[in-house]
Order: sequence, then structure tokens, then C-alpha cells
Amino acid sequence: MSRVAIVTGAGSGIGAAAARRLAAHGLELVLVGRRADPLEAVCASLGGRGATIALDIGEPDAPARVIEETLARFGRIDVIVNNAAMIETGPLESFSRDSFERHYAVNVAGPFFLVAAALPSLRESDDAAVVNISSSVGSIPKPGNMLYGSTKAALEYLTRAWAYELAADRIRVNCVAPGPVDTPIHATYSDDLAATYADLARRIPLGRMGHVDDIAAWVWFLVAPESRWTTGNVIHVDGGQVLGLPEAAGG
Ligand SMILES: NC(=O)c1ccc[n+]([C@@H]2O[C@H](COP(=O)([O-])OP(=O)(O)OC[C@H]3O[C@@H](n4cnc5c(N)ncnc54)[C@H](OP(=O)(O)O)[C@@H]3O)[C@@H](O)[C@H]2O)c1
Repeated sequence: MSRVAIVTGAGSGIGAAAARRLAAHGLELVLVGRRADPLEAVCASLGGRGATIALDIGEPDAPARVIEETLARFGRIDVIVNNAAMIETGPLESFSRDSFERHYAVNVAGPFFLVAAALPSLRESDDAAVVNISSSVGSIPKPGNMLYGSTKAALEYLTRAWAYELAADRIRVNCVAPGPVDTPIHATYSDDLAATYADLARRIPLGRMGHVDDIAAWVWFLVAPESRWTTGNVIHVDGGQVLGLPEAAGG
């Protein structure tokens, strides 16, 4: 049977593109997100290679439910793409305790407990791979993005820690850290998308925002059998954003 991949946040943006890419390479897909309709729409585009699970991955019982339902449907799990995330922006004093806890529940605890719950199945796979989706903001402190950025830095740390710990089980763990990509996520924190996009594009040496397929391609590379000797990496797919702006380089 084909390898089975769970993709969280698969109803839109990078997650939807990654799911389509993995399905095109023959994997069976389990699409996870809160809203059923977008998941069903993506599922319908996969040529019968998908199932959907509508839930909030930040809820304590959600990771175990995803694993149980996946095993009930497909009987195996080979790949996990931890892609779902939330972002709120603002100065330090603007964040409520609830917002702090939601960021960590969705962006860190969700991936953490999903991988933990999947371990018995991943250990049985001949070709297990975890791909975490971080952000360039996980490495580049950006005013206003501290809470979101800190969750992405945590996910990058977990990538390396899991890669080390799970190498004995031949489970590979890598991370893609995208720069700014045109997806619905920006509308969740910005009231002026045109100004936000202009500001984001200005920070990218290659001169444009990313496309979801720029990221989905790397998700597939890291899942592909050809990456079987690659683990513990954070791949920056960001048009060179982590290099910094030329005027910030000094010298
Ligand atoms: N776009 C960028 O510029 C950019 C840059 C760097 C990193 N990233 C990262 O890329 C990943 C995908 O983001 P995107 O840009 O593709 O945005 P997006 O289109 O908004 O995708 C996020 C997906 O996550 C789902 N989601 C959100 N909260 C969830 C929750 N609590 N439980 C389950 N699913 C949830 C959303 O669906 P529901 O609302 O239906 O749940 C949505 O489909 C995120 O990890 C993001 O941090 C994006």
C-alpha cells in the first residue's frame, strides 16, 4: 500500500499545495483543519487519495483523534506534515494570556503531541518522515511577531531534537522555514494587505513573495525517498530573506 501522510492545515495555502504535491507522488492523504468545507474541496482535487478530519489541532485530545481516525481508515502512518499555525501580531504588552496559550497550543503542542501519538506507526514504516513548517520569522526577530516567531523557533528546536532522538528508529525529521508567501494567513492579522505585502516583498533579496508551490516542492523533497540520508535540517525557502537586507548588513 502507498505511504500515508497526515497534513495539518491542509484546507488552504501551503498545506493544500503540499497535500496536492504528495498525492501527485502517490501518497494517500489525511487532511486536517478546523473547517470541513475547504478540506473537502482539497480532498476532491486529490483524485480519491484523501480523507478529511475537521478539528482544532490545538485541543488536547485532537492529536490522538487524528492518529486513531487515520489508522482506522488506512492502517498505517508514514509521513506527518505539521503545517497548521496561528498568528497574532502586536507589541509585547498587547498579548493576552489566552493568546499566548493558544499560540503554543496550536503551533507547538499540536505538532508535539501529533508526532508523539504517531510514533508507534512511524516506527513500523520503512520510510518515515516528519516535515515541520516553521517560518523565517523563527530566525529573524521582527517587531510585532515575537509570539508567533517564538513558537516557530520552538518548532525548529524540536526538529533537531526529534531528528536526533528518532534517528535510531530511522524516522527522519526536517523543517521548511518559508519566507512570505501569498496565502490567506496574512488576512488573519493585517487590515491592509497591500501595505503588508509591499513591506514583506521589500525584505526579500530575490524580489518577490513566494508561491505555495515554492514551499510544497521542498515538502515533497524532504518526504521523497531520495532524502533518506537527510535529517535535522531547517531549510530556508524564502527568496534569501534570512540573509538580511543589504542596508542592514553594515560594513
Ligand atoms: N504564508 C506565509 O507567508 C508563511 C510564511 C512563513 C511560514 N508560514 C507557515 O506556513 C503554514 C501554513 O500557513 P499558510 O500561509 O498556508 O496559511 P493558511 O492558508 O491560513 O493555512 C493555515 C491552515 O491552518 C489551518 N488551521 C489554523 N488553525 C488551526 C487549528 N487550530 N487547527 C487545525 N487547523 C488549523 C487553517 O484552516 P482552518 O481555519 O479551517 O482551521 C488553514 O487551512 C503555517 O505554519 C505558517 O506559519 C506561512
